[in-house]
Amino acid sequence: MTPDEKLFLRRLLDRASAPFRPAGPFAYHYARGKLGGDPIFRELLRQGLLPSGGRFLDLGSGQGSLFAWLLAAGDLHRQGDWPLGWPAPPQPQTLRGVELMARDVERAGQAFGADHPVVRVEQGDMCTTDFGQVDVVTILDALHYFDHDGQADVLRRIHQALPPGGLFLTRIGDVSAGLPYHVSNWVDHIVTFARGHRLPRLYARPLAEWKTLLQATGFEVRSQDMSGDKPFANVMLLCRKLV
Ligand SMILES: C[S@@+](CC[C@H](N)C(=O)[O-])C[C@H]1O[C@@H](n2cnc3c(N)ncnc32)[C@H](O)[C@@H]1O
Repeated sequence: MTPDEKLFLRRLLDRASAPFRPAGPFAYHYARGKLGGDPIFRELLRQGLLPSGGRFLDLGSGQGSLFAWLLAAGDLHRQGDWPLGWPAPPQPQTLRGVELMARDVERAGQAFGADHPVVRVEQGDMCTTDFGQVDVVTILDALHYFDHDGQADVLRRIHQALPPGGLFLTRIGDVSAGLPYHVSNWVDHIVTFARGHRLPRLYARPLAEWKTLLQATGFEVRSQDMSGDKPFANVMLLCRKLV
């Protein structure tokens, strides 16, 4: 990363976390820590992994940190503040989040307001919520909170919700990685507890099994390590609905 990119990411982080101030210190510092410390947010933009526009659906969205990041990226890009060589950021038509926990949905409401023209974060369970028709689906670190049958069903419904060629982007923990997987799990538990939730039972799979399941569902799958400099077993899966 160049010094200019580092400075840019700092400005982007300031802008993306600012909307969470009205939601209280926890929401604000959580957004800063997550968006600044987790490499997936940077990589989504640096590699231009998301479509240029359309209807975005984020399942298990939490307080909507991803949406704040994308909106801030769009703002800076429009102002001409954008790193050389990075693809233009997406300009989503809609950003819909589905989140189980009322407290996170409340924080999202305080951050974006009830009448935001693009963002809506609603309380719901991705295992039952209607996904409608969308252009891209994301699930960052939330697929392992329910059982294997539930996971297969959610993947099937995501496939139905996307157009041919549509993108499902997710990140999972690779249980076959051994110790790094357990380290990610401990951190997951600590963060979940800090966010005021009960400690959940987790339903992991080895990376190979995720890939087989996604392929059987009708996706072409590409994987990329997404642990950054942390000793984790986080893998990003880029799943393209087969035409
Ligand atoms: C580790 S957090 C990640 C939050 C967000 N994706 C992010 O990157 O900041 C996982 C989130 O998934 C939510 N979640 C778990 N099971 C869910 C379900 N069945 N439906 C909707 N959200 C769920 C949790 O409440 C939690 O907010």
